[in-house]
Amino acid sequence: MFHPDGPTLVELTKQALASTTSGYDMLAPKFEHTPFRTPDALLEPMVDAIGAPVDAAMDVCCGTGAAMSHLKPLCRERVVGIDVSGGMLDQARVNLEAAPGEARVELYVQDTLEMAFDEEFDVITCCGAFGHILEPQQDRFIGRVRAALKPGGRFVFVTAPMPSVADPAWWAARSFNAVMHVRNALKSPPFIMFYLTFPLERASELLWSHGFDVAVSSPYGDTEFPRARLVVATKR
Ligand SMILES: C[S@@+](CC[C@H](N)C(=O)[O-])C[C@H]1O[C@@H](n2cnc3c(N)ncnc32)[C@H](O)[C@@H]1O
Repeated sequence: MFHPDGPTLVELTKQALASTTSGYDMLAPKFEHTPFRTPDALLEPMVDAIGAPVDAAMDVCCGTGAAMSHLKPLCRERVVGIDVSGGMLDQARVNLEAAPGEARVELYVQDTLEMAFDEEFDVITCCGAFGHILEPQQDRFIGRVRAALKPGGRFVFVTAPMPSVADPAWWAARSFNAVMHVRNALKSPPFIMFYLTFPLERASELLWSHGFDVAVSSPYGDTEFPRARLVVATKR
């Protein structure tokens, strides 16, 4: 559907009818050939923003390791990835072996809402996965991220301002969400994936209320993602 080596429409439909975890397990071998894998054009400015090497970094909802491959050469000691899908982590393991850098790679099957790291990381990233965290769970999520960061540690991610209702992107996202609500009402277990749940405005407010200083920049003007914003939230 997206690429000759990517999933077919039938495979994508089966994935969406499975639970979030088994859907990603099914998609894992072909995930790199989908637009759901965060493009390097979005990841590179994140790495630039981190700048100097750090001891330890973690990518939450790491998938097949797209962000971790960029973080590994930046880390002196360890680079950690967590994801609910063991299938995605199997692919990440292979991809990270080929990535440059000497940091120890640690991959854990874990729900991001259950992560229990205690001030271990200089940097935490999360890419292309906020739609899997329901709005009522966001407080808990940010709390877990904060607990896992060292004092002064940074949570680095990309989001975008909420589009206006005049923007076709707003309607496309809302229509997708409506289909997912119907799907989840009719079929269990649910597939948790909704758009526009963590726009820049909401993310900034939540992070501020959880004790982060928030810096926003726009390094994506010349890319195919001009509305994207890079957020660096520093734990106060
Ligand atoms: C769209 S993929 C993005 C993967 C990767 N971050 C990237 O940018 O290429 C979303 C990932 O989030 C994982 N995921 C979804 N819900 C999760 C949760 N509650 N805790 C941990 N991982 C989760 C999925 O298994 C999947 O690998």
